[in-house]
Formats: sequence, C-alpha cells, structure tokens
Amino acid sequence: MHPLRFGIIGTGSIARRFAHGLRHVPDAALAAVWNRTPGKAQAFADEFGGVVCASFDALLAQPLDAVYIATPHPGHAPYSVAALEAGKAVLCEKPAATSQAELERVLAVAAAHGVLFMEAMKPPFYPLFAQLDDHLRRDPIGPITLVRAGFASPGVPATHAVYDPAQAGGALLDIGVYAAFLAVHWLGPAQTVAALGRLGPSGVDTLAVVNTSHAQGCAQLYCGLGLSGSGEALLAAPGGHVLIHEKWWNPERATIRYPDGRTVLIEAPAVGGGLNYEAAHFCGLLRAGLRESPVMDHAKSRAMLALLDAARAQLGLVYPFER
Ligand SMILES: NC(=O)c1ccc[n+]([C@@H]2O[C@H](COP(=O)([O-])OP(=O)(O)OC[C@H]3O[C@@H](n4cnc5c(N)ncnc54)[C@H](OP(=O)(O)O)[C@@H]3O)[C@@H](O)[C@H]2O)c1
Repeated sequence: MHPLRFGIIGTGSIARRFAHGLRHVPDAALAAVWNRTPGKAQAFADEFGGVVCASFDALLAQPLDAVYIATPHPGHAPYSVAALEAGKAVLCEKPAATSQAELERVLAVAAAHGVLFMEAMKPPFYPLFAQLDDHLRRDPIGPITLVRAGFASPGVPATHAVYDPAQAGGALLDIGVYAAFLAVHWLGPAQTVAALGRLGPSGVDTLAVVNTSHAQGCAQLYCGLGLSGSGEALLAAPGGHVLIHEKWWNPERATIRYPDGRTVLIEAPAVGGGLNYEAAHFCGLLRAGLRESPVMDHAKSRAMLALLDAARAQLGLVYPFER
C-alpha cells in the first residue's frame, strides 16, 4: 500500500497548516505543489516536501491520488472541476464554492467522473465531536432544538482579501460558513432564513445576524469582521444543553449540563494542528473507494451554501462575477 499522494494548490496560511497536519497522517504524503507565485511554491516544498509544478495543469499531470485546494474562494469551484475531470479526488477548502449554483456544477462533475469530493470543514473531525457524540449516545439530552453560534474576527486589516468583493469576500462566506455548518449539522437544512446585517465600505458584509428555521428546531447565527465576538457555541435540547467552548470551530472542550444539576466536561486536545483529522478521514474514504463522506456529505455542503446564499441575498450582496 503506497502512501496516498496529495497535490496542494495555493500555499498560503491554511495550506501550511494542512501540510503540517498531513505529517501526522500515517498513510499520506505531500507529492506536488503549485502556487501562482513560483518562489512561494518552492519555499513551501523546501519546508514540507513535494515536487514543485510550473502550472496547475502540470500538477494534474502528476501521479496523485488527491488534490487539496487552498486558494481563495472564487478558485474553489473551477479548480475542483478541473481536478475532478482529471480523475483526482478533491478536498476543497471552505466554502466549497461561492454559491450553491456553483457547487452544483462541481458535484455534477464529481458524479459524472465517479470521483471523491469533500469540503474541508474541520470541526466534525476533531476528536471532541466523536467524544461528544459518544457521550450523548450514552447519556442523552434529546434532540438538539436550538443552535446558537457565531464567529467574529477583530482586527482584520482593511487590505485583506476578505474585504474584496472580487474575491467573494465578506463575513458570511469566510467565517459564517462555520456557523452554517453547525446549524445544518445538528438541525438539517434550513427551511427559512432571516438575515440582518451591514455591508462595509468595500461592499461586502462585515456583520450578519441570521435566524434560521429547520425541521428539528431553530438557529441563531452571527458573523462579523472587525468585531470581537464570543467563541462559544450552544446546542440546546429538552434534556440538557452543550456548550462547545472557545474556539468552537477548533473544538477541544465542551460542557454538558443536565437539568438535574449534573455537569460533564469533555476535553479532547487536538494534536497536529487539527487539519490532520479531516485529512485522515479523507484518506479513509479514498482507501475505501467512497465518493462522498458520510460526515461532511454533499447534502451538508449544499445546505450550508443554500443558507449562506439566502442570507447574502437578503443583505443585498451580489459579487461582481455574478452580475
Ligand atoms: N479550514 C480553515 O481553518 C481555514 C482557515 C483559513 C482559510 N481557509 C480557506 O482557505 C482558503 C485560503 O485562505 P488562506 O487564509 O490560506 O489565504 P492566503 O494565506 O491568502 O493564501 C492564498 C493562496 O492562494 C494563492 N492565490 C491567491 N489568488 C489566487 C488565484 N487567483 N489563483 C490561484 N492562486 C491564488 C495565493 O498565492 P500568492 O501567495 O501568490 O498570493 C496563496 O498561495 C480560503 O478559501 C479560506 O476560506 C480555511
């Protein structure tokens, strides 16, 4: 059994964290790297390994088992489509696409070519989530009925791509996607979405407050740029509630409180930087010949983008490439 060979495109901050994590996955190796700035690809390969490719097409021509896409949001769908058409499995950074319509094109190509595609949404693969599931099975609190969570980033420099409409910027797609994940993961797809917020001087959303209704309950979500928020998430049920402590999107600690006064603390520190867990899961899917993750499945990515599309439309944010 050869190690699974990953190609990485984009060598920025999240790619570094992923490459670090890959070192903690026993049956995987970084085999090829492409970045639009060749010197940066070389520096990345010098540190983490892999062949430096002169172009994205050259990377796809390498003998790879999978491509990890770590470029800004607008590249996610086109690079995923090209990699899937070349028969490479794709692990794509969040958001899986800039809209549900874009994601549908990716999923159609994945289905047509029979190739694995997964959005790299890290929280459900952290050991804390498995331990929480396990605990709630043994000592249940009933169906989760309310999810309350947010993510806000203070001190983001005004020059950051997250403020650029051409880069599909804004809080919703960049960090609101995590809150969308938590709501959809525990409650299923949103049936109604009601969003309030603010667009900043560059025209992207800098604040969004989103209430959603689902078959099983409701969620209260928020995201903000240039805002200091709480990194705690609440999952409430009839027989108790869970607090996933800061930072709930890199989950390592949770407290479960029962109405009879019992309190259970779960601590599951992550090793390897945290992206190793999603990478290990993805490798398991590859080895098993699966085309979709049972955890971060296509329906979940779809439902997250449907929620974000609706919220973005209510805030009046249309990206220049959508006009
Ligand atoms: N899962 C997570 O925890 C997490 C955390 C942060 C970000 N992300 C996601 O990861 C993606 C990248 O974020 P980041 O923070 O790593 O950004 P970053 O540090 O700015 O890195 C972006 C990389 O993409 C390259 N790039 C920029 N524009 C490109 C284009 N038009 N075509 C091809 N390559 C291009 C950049 O090349 P140059 O170096 O030449 O500019 C750089 O290597 C985003 O979609 C973000 O949502 C995920």
